[in-house]
Amino acid sequence: MNRLSFKNRIVNGSNGKNGHNGNYGTAASGNPDTNGLSRRGFMKTLTAGGAGLALLGGCTSAQAVRRDADFTFLHMTDMHVRRKRKGHEGYRACIESVKAMERAPDFSLMGGDMAFDGLYNEKDEFADQIELYKTITDTMDIPYYNCIGNHDVLGLNSRRKVPVDDPDIGHKMIMDRLGMDRSYYSFDHRGWHFVVLDTIHRVETEHGPSYEPRLGEEQLEWLRFDLGAAAGRPTVCVIHIAAFCHIGQINADPNLPSMNHMVIADNLPFRHILERHNVKAVLQGHSHQIEDFYFNGIWYITSQSVSAAWWGGNWRGFNPGYTVLETRDEELSWYRREFDWEHQLEPEDDLERERIRQRKEFLQEQERLRADEINVGVGEY
Ligand SMILES: [Fe+2]
Repeated sequence: MNRLSFKNRIVNGSNGKNGHNGNYGTAASGNPDTNGLSRRGFMKTLTAGGAGLALLGGCTSAQAVRRDADFTFLHMTDMHVRRKRKGHEGYRACIESVKAMERAPDFSLMGGDMAFDGLYNEKDEFADQIELYKTITDTMDIPYYNCIGNHDVLGLNSRRKVPVDDPDIGHKMIMDRLGMDRSYYSFDHRGWHFVVLDTIHRVETEHGPSYEPRLGEEQLEWLRFDLGAAAGRPTVCVIHIAAFCHIGQINADPNLPSMNHMVIADNLPFRHILERHNVKAVLQGHSHQIEDFYFNGIWYITSQSVSAAWWGGNWRGFNPGYTVLETRDEELSWYRREFDWEHQLEPEDDLERERIRQRKEFLQEQERLRADEINVGVGEY
């Protein structure tokens, strides 16, 4: 443990895009985070898109809600807390990095896959992982709101290690142990509305209980009226499996269907509901890779994962980290924050070693090509 450094890194959220991005001005940027790195120039800000909607709902919103102060909150997802690869110690390092933040977040939205995992593990091991997740997260000393991920459910897969009639199968076990009354719910904070949704939709198959990536009609119906009751408050939704995920494009795989297991099946009715209300952003997990997609006034942000490659090192360019979000009036900005954790592989982790070797080779080749491209002037090639 003592060889770990809790030095944190703030990393840019990428370049601005038309219309809705830009940096905070001095009012919000003069608060350097750890390591002396200023957040100026590293932030993305959402200002447009919601503007029209904000005006539509403005009178009601302004009368009903007083936004008395701006605040910071976190989106931490895909922690996959486990003892293997000392993932629980890595998660402890993550929580320590939160506690070291200069501007303390008001709360954290936990985006799912909190434990590793209920689908394929023995029940005792899953119970231990949930307990580790809870006890370590509790030391963060800020409220946190759990969102169910596909690895958080017990045995919803044909490769389950529990009997098909186990009374804890499905969402029950983790919800009981984390004290969750509902798998989808909402709350208000300083004039903003937050909705935590459940994308792990239980279905019965010939192999027993399973799940589909879907919100389902009942939840969508609840969402309609929850957002209606929010009366125009700026809103952030959290889902585990994304509404938008461009993994086919990212991997240049022409055979991967755009609507696959990485995307909820009912994303069309979902976004139609969101587009009727003052929803600023949807925070997504599951793919362990950052994406940032703006569509019809709503910002779909996928955070990198706390565990990167399930505590097996960098995952396709992303180290262990999470997202920090800040409000300013009805604007929202985000940046990603990484924490130092050196992966600790097990003797049998040959696949991880090979993946890390290939990544290193790729980066070396990139560097060689870059040097060539810089050193050889245009017209000389
Ligand atoms: Fe995950």
